Amino acid sequence: AVERGGQALDRLIVDVADYPQPGIVFKDITPVLADHDALVAVVGGLATAGRDADGAVHVDKVVGMEARGFILGPPVALDLGVGFVPVRKAGKLPREAHAVTYALEYGEATLELHRDAVRPGERVLLVDDVLATGGTAAATRDLVERCGGVVVAVAVLLELTFLPGRDAVAGVPVTALRPV
Ligand code: PRP
Repeated sequence: AVERGGQALDRLIVDVADYPQPGIVFKDITPVLADHDALVAVVGGLATAGRDADGAVHVDKVVGMEARGFILGPPVALDLGVGFVPVRKAGKLPREAHAVTYALEYGEATLELHRDAVRPGERVLLVDDVLATGGTAAATRDLVERCGGVVVAVAVLLELTFLPGRDAVAGVPVTALRPV
């Protein structure tokens, strides 16, 4: 459905120039969320990353990154019949958490994951809206591994293919519904 609806999907992803700062083109996916057919196609497309070719679910958890991974991750987890775990920005989780700090173009960011949210040996699918530099995905993989889990797949709506995001999660297959 995502393949057939690709053009429709592209129309629903709005480029916003100079947001959040001059020179950046922000990809606004909120119109995709507002369109039921597109939302169904996107959730189904992302969920394929958690299944084998024969349709068997091969993940134990979906992990989504703040903030738009919180929107797309839970319906993907429900589709797959597994639980959802949030990775949050610093200082938001109430219990003992692992923390990973990584470099941004300007400055740094910290992401956190409850220590008991992923159990040793669990297989994890990462879900987010956009893969850009891959810094968020790589930091999240690090967090999952600190819990003893393993990231077996990454699924995103958009991949900025002019950036080396895939290289940041080398060895893990990346499913991107729309490469741009
Ligand atoms: C955006 C996006 C991804 C991340 C991708 O989130 O939703 O999580 O950046 O970029 P990267 O591959 O270069 O790490 P953002 O940091 O804007 O956070 P927000 O969703 O809370 O606005």
